[in-house]
Amino acid sequence: MELREWATRILSASTLEEKLLDREQLTDHDPGPPLLWKEPVRPPGMGFKKRTKKEKLPPLHEHREADKRAICLHRFAGHELLAVEIMAYALLAFPKAPPHLRKGIANTLREEQGHVKLYMARMEEMGLKFGDLPLYRHFWSHVEFLTSPIKYISVMSLTFEMANLDFAPYYGASFEKYGDTKSSALMAQILKDEIAHVSFGWNWLKKLKGETEMWDAWKGNLTPLLIPKRAKGAIFQEDNRQRAGVSEAFIEKLKAY
Ligand SMILES: [Fe+2]
Ligand SMILES: [Fe+2]
Repeated sequence: MELREWATRILSASTLEEKLLDREQLTDHDPGPPLLWKEPVRPPGMGFKKRTKKEKLPPLHEHREADKRAICLHRFAGHELLAVEIMAYALLAFPKAPPHLRKGIANTLREEQGHVKLYMARMEEMGLKFGDLPLYRHFWSHVEFLTSPIKYISVMSLTFEMANLDFAPYYGASFEKYGDTKSSALMAQILKDEIAHVSFGWNWLKKLKGETEMWDAWKGNLTPLLIPKRAKGAIFQEDNRQRAGVSEAFIEKLKAY
């Protein structure tokens, strides 16, 4: 299947099965003209809801309760589904991007589909189905500003995915603390993949930025809704960024921000 068709099917899917559609053989012979998708089609009941202030993630001390941990997993699964859709968006929006970049985005998209499935399986063990709780627009609000591959890389890989280098171990440690080793093992798997996704973004920013310094290139390509702080979580994990190949200079600047 062509990347274009695959991405179109994902964005217009009205079932989860189709959202998570996997194809062994993906080709990219005919990327076609740019296509800017306004909003993804969603399975019934899984559309974007407005988030109220009350709908905060359960704080750490509530992770003692399995139901609260399941709520966290549901939110994370929602983020993964958005990542799937934004990556599909990028494949349609940037047909002229270097073929290797497109291939890399497609591979990452597949892993994000895998993450949705992992969260779904764990939630189901905990008695929660994906879609039982509201889902939000969240990352999708930034899509209209992703007008070039370098902006996509800066926002998706080097802001949202980079922040997960802090969030995934933060929640993983909390789940572990309350004896939920299955959920913490899941967070460890997510972290491992996320390090590779950030590394992918880092390497492409290097290639796409020209003469500009990495920090300036990244910061200059964020959307108006984003500040550098969004690339980190509550506890800054320097070593996960080092593993992703992020430079010391960049790490120091982000840490201090
Ligand atoms: Fe993911
Ligand atoms: Fe990712």
